[in-house]
Amino acid sequence: MSDRVPTFRIATIPGDGVGREVVDAGRAVLDEAARLTGGAFALDWQELPWGSAYYGETGRMMPEDGLEVLKGFDAVYFGAVGWPGVPDHVSLWGLRLAICQGFDQWANVRPVRFHPGVTSPLRKADDTELDWVVVRENSEGEYAGLGGRNLSARTGGEVAVQSSLFTEVGCERIMRFAFDLARTRTTKKVTSVTKSNAQQYGMVLWDDVFRRVAGDYPDVETESVLVDAMAARFVLSPENLSVVVASNLNADILSDLGSALAGSLGLAASANLNPERRYPSMFEPVHGSAPDIAGTGVANPIGAILSGALMLDHLGQPAAAEAVRTAVDAVTASGTLPRDLGGTATTADVTAATVAALGETLSSSRPEEVHAAR
Ligand SMILES: NC(=O)c1ccc[n+]([C@@H]2O[C@H](COP(=O)([O-])OP(=O)(O)OC[C@H]3O[C@@H](n4cnc5c(N)ncnc54)[C@H](O)[C@@H]3O)[C@@H](O)[C@H]2O)c1
Repeated sequence: MSDRVPTFRIATIPGDGVGREVVDAGRAVLDEAARLTGGAFALDWQELPWGSAYYGETGRMMPEDGLEVLKGFDAVYFGAVGWPGVPDHVSLWGLRLAICQGFDQWANVRPVRFHPGVTSPLRKADDTELDWVVVRENSEGEYAGLGGRNLSARTGGEVAVQSSLFTEVGCERIMRFAFDLARTRTTKKVTSVTKSNAQQYGMVLWDDVFRRVAGDYPDVETESVLVDAMAARFVLSPENLSVVVASNLNADILSDLGSALAGSLGLAASANLNPERRYPSMFEPVHGSAPDIAGTGVANPIGAILSGALMLDHLGQPAAAEAVRTAVDAVTASGTLPRDLGGTATTADVTAATVAALGETLSSSRPEEVHAAR
């Protein structure tokens, strides 16, 4: 970083499909946020061409020293990965999960935000304040990658074992993260998602650790809910949720449900955090590469833009992050909606509108507010 303007080095990995389109949109908005803060911070982007096309050329989703390359950056801004012709488990494990695991990005934060002007399939969203955040254990659980396939020589007799891994350390750190986050919110409550009735080892450990950690946070309300009941709860009574902590798979599914309830998968943002900051953290929309709409210019860039806001929070720029969120709300409120939200705006239209709204938001902020996060 220079002495005069703190400059953050960001690695961008657009990846595949709409990843390219939404990452470009996010960069345009974040660059404008940096410019409008008048020297509070700057972003120095370096793009890395990793993904399925790279795999086609090299047989790898990223170079062998990919993690070494990324270590030199302050953060990673990611699009999406996955393309027909490359098996999904190869593309996911070769790039996104390789980064999450290699950098111990054990906390995946996925806010569920409801936006003005966006029709939610939930009737109660019309007159009820809804706002919760899913905290996903991002390093073990059902996605630990443990197992194997054997006995393929027996025609029709192959077996596969896929084991979940739950460690006390892994459970404890994600639960403390969830409780610490709850303390920063208006409703100080953590809901643990479990399945300990059927998964009598891993999920019972999860429950035990939850109860123990809760003892250190007497000011935070707690509850424990089975994942199947939780799916119904998201739809029927989400108004009393604040922080929802869940295992890797359960949170993956529930957060997609949450974003669909908010209006579309295209809205959902996420942060893959290494909270100790030993390694860079990674910010990405929740959605995938959407091959069905890739290249048509209609992808909703809001999930990527809001992931950029989470990155600004992480980089110590909360005023700019909040300005980006306010600008997005102004755009949806004005009716500039992409196709997945029932509108006709293109990716470029939504991006331009957000850049313009940002100008209004930040120019109406007092300079000391914008610089407050320095
Ligand atoms: N984090 C990731 O990189 C990630 C996450 C999920 C899926 N994937 C990969 O993406 C590929 C496609 O998977 P999928 O179809 O199950 O999920 P997907 O999220 O790509 O698409 C699901 C549906 O949502 C729509 N959609 C997604 N993003 C959108 C956006 N920004 N704007 C408007 N509509 C959007 C798509 O058009 C599609 O109809 C697969 O290869 C999968 O493995 C990657």
